[in-house]
Amino acid sequence: MCGIVGYTGPQSAVTPLIEGLRRLEYRGYDSAGIALGTSGKLYVEKRAGKLNNLEQALGADLPTVHSGIGHTRWATHGGPTDRNAHPHLDNEGKLAVIHNGIIENYAELRTLLEGRGHKFSSDTDTESVAHLLSDLRKSHNGDLPAAMREAVASLRGSFTLLAIHADAPETIVGVRRNSPLVLGLGDGENYLASDVAAFIQYTKRAVELGQDEVVTITPTSYSITDLAGNSKKAKEYEITWDASAAEKGGFTHFMLKEIFEQPKAVADTLIGRLKDKKIQLDELNLSSREIKDIDKVVVLACGTAFHAGLIAKYAIEKWAKVPVEVELASEFRYRDPIVNKNTLVLAISQSGETMDTLMALRHAKSLGARILAICNTNSSTIPRESDAVLYTHAGPEIAVASTKAFLTQVAATYLIGLYLAQQRGVMKDGEVAEAFEQLQELPGKIEQVLETVEPLRELTRTFAAATSVLFLGRNVGFPVALEGALKLKELAYMHAEGFAGGELKHGPIALIEEGTPVIAIMPAGAEHALDEKMASNIQEVKARGANVIVIAEEGQVVTGATHVIRLPKAPAMMQPLLATVPLQVFAYEMAVTRGNDVDQPRNLAKSVTVE
Ligand code: AGP
Repeated sequence: MCGIVGYTGPQSAVTPLIEGLRRLEYRGYDSAGIALGTSGKLYVEKRAGKLNNLEQALGADLPTVHSGIGHTRWATHGGPTDRNAHPHLDNEGKLAVIHNGIIENYAELRTLLEGRGHKFSSDTDTESVAHLLSDLRKSHNGDLPAAMREAVASLRGSFTLLAIHADAPETIVGVRRNSPLVLGLGDGENYLASDVAAFIQYTKRAVELGQDEVVTITPTSYSITDLAGNSKKAKEYEITWDASAAEKGGFTHFMLKEIFEQPKAVADTLIGRLKDKKIQLDELNLSSREIKDIDKVVVLACGTAFHAGLIAKYAIEKWAKVPVEVELASEFRYRDPIVNKNTLVLAISQSGETMDTLMALRHAKSLGARILAICNTNSSTIPRESDAVLYTHAGPEIAVASTKAFLTQVAATYLIGLYLAQQRGVMKDGEVAEAFEQLQELPGKIEQVLETVEPLRELTRTFAAATSVLFLGRNVGFPVALEGALKLKELAYMHAEGFAGGELKHGPIALIEEGTPVIAIMPAGAEHALDEKMASNIQEVKARGANVIVIAEEGQVVTGATHVIRLPKAPAMMQPLLATVPLQVFAYEMAVTRGNDVDQPRNLAKSVTVE
């Protein structure tokens, strides 16, 4: 999604702005621009394409100014062109606006403003705000914060907006609704950004901004109000990441770094979660009565997070004996679901800003459900709008393709399943502790898997020319198959599809022909005896010419495979956190083999903050 940065202070503003936008590149974008506040005039430059295009356009005559706003755009309304890039200006060229989100009523605003004589120069929804703000600033005698408050009252949609005016260039005004904005507090300087990564190298002091809050910054001050102009108390917090954590740490890509961070990410998510043989989950702040009254769990999520939810279903139903429905957030939002005060909703989101998931949790909340967010981003919108949050501790996940967030999401849902089982008296303390210990063994086992992934690089060369890859899984291996297919699609731009092994004979087996690559995940043998069924699936596809890669635990008998990837032994419920890892690496290596942009795959964004 779009990246937003604002700076005001003693530095030459172009440096923190460009550096901040570079730190936000991972959000995915197709154009970039900045507006620098000089006395009585704005210096604006914007270009389609990557940041380098903008930097080349910033001529030598660039004035040294100390405030400005910067933007990377992920096109929604209007193509990725120079004219549609942000910032957008009023007709006098003295007011500049940047925006992340969608102004749903932009067309009617444009008609109204053109009727007042405003001339538009782009196809974007954002430009309507620039002209609207210009009129309102005049009616408020130059008071830009007041103008912003009034403007927002007439906007519909989701947005983060920053505005700067040449008559008061060191002042920057921002507002957020359903879209991220965070304030960075420096020493004699202040920042506004979509994400702390933009200013973390300058300051770790931040302030979270709530819904419909208007923030005004100067180099030495900041103020926050609601839309009525009432002051709001700022909640400062210390950012725990350091700048290096957001760097590649010696890996070729963020994604590979994050794959190798998975043992630590899972370990960190489990820290402190078991005490005296009991799962500690005080965040849930539900009374024993409320926990006992839960009659259904509904998971709301998108993409990889949705796959984590599918795995959670097996665990929570097995351990807590509570029915679990796993819903694509974008579908749930427009349904009439059966949800009430006894429904516990798990909103799973790495970024905490996914609009589909946010809107779905609001829908569930309006029906009386209790919302527990599972999130990896401190103080983001989804946790703030939930009744409680269980943070995963995967650290910053920069690559668009989610890896360590996924494993920690699964681990977090397991904690919830065990906690519910314990609180509802369905599992004894000893059983809960035993399951938790199995979880605690996983970081070491993931390390072992990571030590054996080297051959996958060679294997991807075998399949590099494939036009489609099928993934088979059973039980908790089925969501793993879906996740493996998604990784290959989003990274290698290859068609890939995940199936439940038992579904093969109901149609998909018609896809198999000579040389079709099939990746089959053998269920962990011990608990289900499903391995015989999967062994039959392997023979069925092999007999029709498939080239089969099998993922199986040590010692498991495998026949008919071209290649076997071995996993350490683990209980069936724990296997997804191991079997997923080679699939991540397979997709990563395939993307590298194909020369794709691994960390920022085409057409994708790290956080999809539009519906
Ligand atoms: C996963 O690799 C994708 N990047 C995507 O499916 C992602 O999981 C989905 O957009 C949800 O994002 P969230 O976890 O930030 O809500």
